[in-house]
Amino acid sequence: MTISSLTDTFTLANGVEIPVVGFGTWQTPDGDVAYQSVLDALKAGYRHIDTAAAYGNEASVGRAIKDSGIPREELFITSKLWNDSHSYEAAKIALDKSLKLLGLDYLDLYLIHWPNPLINRRNWDKANAEAWRYMEDAYTEGKIRAIGISNFQIEHVEALLKTATIRPMVNQLFINPSDLEQDIVAFNEAHDILTEAYSPLGTGSLLAVPEINDIAEKYGKSAAQVLIRWSLQHGFLPLPKSTHAERISQNADVFDFELTDAEIVALDQLEGVAGTHQDASQAGF
Ligand code: A2P
Repeated sequence: MTISSLTDTFTLANGVEIPVVGFGTWQTPDGDVAYQSVLDALKAGYRHIDTAAAYGNEASVGRAIKDSGIPREELFITSKLWNDSHSYEAAKIALDKSLKLLGLDYLDLYLIHWPNPLINRRNWDKANAEAWRYMEDAYTEGKIRAIGISNFQIEHVEALLKTATIRPMVNQLFINPSDLEQDIVAFNEAHDILTEAYSPLGTGSLLAVPEINDIAEKYGKSAAQVLIRWSLQHGFLPLPKSTHAERISQNADVFDFELTDAEIVALDQLEGVAGTHQDASQAGF
């Protein structure tokens, strides 16, 4: 598939179209910074915004969406269910709260943020099944157009699939050349689950890596742009984050060059240079 613009889409398993690059808002402070950066992103042509209850910035993201004046149906908005709400009732309350803060009457995508929070680590599979049961009902009701998961490894998805009647359409993971997460990526692909890549720039720590800058120089592009291309050419949906208007625009200007297969392979060798994904079962939250 040739991707030529920010509003080109991947098609999810249920037929819903999702714009190929999303604007990430993890670690974007609530208030003016979140408001302005989302507004800048929408002005730069992004139509896909990724937030989460845990980011604490949904109200500011929502305000920017409203003030942009862009028709709702042209936007793709994702939020995520936090770790304190893994039951049917709690998930219902959490989704309603996210919708209210965002000022929306539906989400395009809702994800379980982490598979096995500390609070229910001993019965994470049952807790996920319950939260998922609510998400299926909300999906059927039309409150969410697609449902998925985040930070799920194979055992977590397999457990979910035992009781799910609607399968997850997306799995959002920490993916960049420092961590390819090959096993879960292959599993996603085999189950028609789209892989989204958060921290596609390694939260910024990949930007100084010489091998990436050498490739960037060849194309007259930045390291960030090379990394976003790397994600897209692997078939991942990258979610670059920035709070600076010029970087936000730069990260959207990635459709006028193409990495060679050899360059992709060379970037794949950078495993570990900027850390790897957090092991969910060890996470202290
Ligand atoms: P800032 O938000 O201050 O612009 P990731 O998407 O992997 O989480 O990386 C986000 C980090 O990379 C942030 O620190 C962000 O800084 C920085 N960043 C994003 N885009 C660029 C860019 N084009 N050039 C330099 N730094 C960037």
